[in-house]
Amino acid sequence: MSENKTSNDMWGGRFASGPDAIMEAINASIDFDRKLYAQDIRGSLAHAAMLAKTGIISADDERKIAHGLNTILSEIEAGEFEFSARLEDIHMNVEARLSKLIGPAAGRLHTARSRNDQVAVDFRLWVKEELERIEAALTHLVEAFLVRAEEHAATVMPGFTHLQAAQPVTFGHHLMAYVEMFGRDRSRVRDALERLDECPLGAAALAGTGFPIDRHMTAEALGFREPTRNSIDTVSDRDFALEFLSVAAICGTHLSRMAEEIVIWATPQFGFVNLSDAFATGSSIMPQKKNPDAAELTRAKIGRINGNLVALLTVMKGLPLAYSKDMQEDKEAVFDTAETLDLMLAAMTGMVKDLEVNKAAMKKAAGHGYSTATDLADWLVREAGLPFREAHHVTGKAVALAEERKCALEKLPLADLQTIHSAITDDVYSVLSVANSVKSRTSYGGAAPAEVRKQIRAWRRRLKRGASPVKKS
Ligand code: ARG
Repeated sequence: MSENKTSNDMWGGRFASGPDAIMEAINASIDFDRKLYAQDIRGSLAHAAMLAKTGIISADDERKIAHGLNTILSEIEAGEFEFSARLEDIHMNVEARLSKLIGPAAGRLHTARSRNDQVAVDFRLWVKEELERIEAALTHLVEAFLVRAEEHAATVMPGFTHLQAAQPVTFGHHLMAYVEMFGRDRSRVRDALERLDECPLGAAALAGTGFPIDRHMTAEALGFREPTRNSIDTVSDRDFALEFLSVAAICGTHLSRMAEEIVIWATPQFGFVNLSDAFATGSSIMPQKKNPDAAELTRAKIGRINGNLVALLTVMKGLPLAYSKDMQEDKEAVFDTAETLDLMLAAMTGMVKDLEVNKAAMKKAAGHGYSTATDLADWLVREAGLPFREAHHVTGKAVALAEERKCALEKLPLADLQTIHSAITDDVYSVLSVANSVKSRTSYGGAAPAEVRKQIRAWRRRLKRGASPVKKS
């Protein structure tokens, strides 16, 4: 196939000798940028069509080029294409093959174009598609959370601060906290898509071109909103990749937090959830064990994503305008992140769908640690007219007494509570149980099951409309 052509044949006019093997090794990106083959061919097809439409190349050459490019696409898809490291990258591998297939007409494809705008268009198209995949995966994830949240809108569990039982909430309410996070991730994806939606093609090496090209035509053909506006910026900008990595880092952070909670909840000490066999593994030595490996790996994989973000930020830092070969280092970070995040999203969706919830353990834990102490204080404010600070103090005494007796707050006899404050009546017991505590949290966005169900319904409507979760609905 293209084995007897090297990149040197493409750009080597002024070179007396070929590249050193090490030069080839450090220069070649084909091992990873071959992933861009479909985008590269799409970009070239659009470019060739525009060159013909504007009279820069003949219709006949364009037909040959298009036919050749489509042949190459099928060859790659059939696994019959021989990629060569000597041809450096995907762009030159495709072009070299094209010239084998169609002869001299192939040489006209690169008119009014440079690999600098070519790689920018390929990569943008790839990142755009990946962001769309992530958006869809996030939607599935949110749907899975909504199903479980609805099922457990009234399942009482301890809410934590400092990982200490703080106030009772419901499992549904807790899951909905993640729905908010993933909703923000989804809106960040859309934001990134919005800014990415400009076509680099036609910026050429960095200065544009003297050929009468039609950049609006190629932008439209490739599904971009419009062409980019500054040719220098166009070939030196990788913000879209950085934004992709940032979106992924934030989303991955959310996934790692949920994963960590699953690890904690699945411990025998907590016993809040059981992982399905499908998302757990056994131990090769301890037969009794069921390990939350999928959750642990989801927790861990954010490390790679954060590393990739920092790697590309570091590559781009201080780079003078316009294109520098440094920028070839943008791809592996993005590809690895995409693969990692896709897997994390899928694993979390699977785990949450399958999670077996131990309501009794959650309820029992919700009552530990005097978690309704704030309800007692609130009751004293509401029913006995105490200032909150005094109510807090009185409640502290009740907690001390319960601690001394080694019992729950609601197990303290009325007479004892009345020695702490005479205004306390029998009615206080209505707020001391965890279920009543939760039910009372009816403030907007609060833990009351009715409130949680309202938020679930609102999210379902948003998803149905495909509306951005953060923009006003
Ligand atoms: N493989 C290169 C990259 O990924 C393509 C652009 C090369 N441009 C150049 N002037 N050498 O960035």
